[in-house]
Amino acid sequence: MSRLTVNNQPVQYRLDPETPLLWALRDASNLTGTKYGCGTGHCGACTVDVDGRAVRSCQTTIGALEGSFVTTIEGLSRDRSHPLQLALLTDNVVQCGFCIPGIVMAASVLLKKDADPSEATIRAAIDNLCRCGIYPRLVESIQRAAR
Ligand code: FES
Repeated sequence: MSRLTVNNQPVQYRLDPETPLLWALRDASNLTGTKYGCGTGHCGACTVDVDGRAVRSCQTTIGALEGSFVTTIEGLSRDRSHPLQLALLTDNVVQCGFCIPGIVMAASVLLKKDADPSEATIRAAIDNLCRCGIYPRLVESIQRAAR
């Protein structure tokens, strides 16, 4: 059994400790906002906040996270009212939207550490892949959300 706190709720996963966090969140907790993209740690679609770090949940087992605090896109905001979400919507950044939960979670971790990130800082911190190519608008929108 693995005990975590997910979106401020205590959770006990009765799963193999080697289960990737991504599948515990999606299948056991029904938190399907966290997406499966590549499954190899490259795309970032599965990014969640673990103890204040942006973590690829497809590459992290629940057994390694005993006692950790996990925040998913559902825990960040239930009504898309987080400043990052509002900025991305206002600036029409989102296209297909598949990568957006992971990007928002990576950006929210960044903004907790750096309230006024430079373009270079954002590009270094947000290495999530987006097939729609939203990157230029995304950087501007994250900076707007920070203000
Ligand atoms: Fe985890 Fe792509 S699904 S990094």
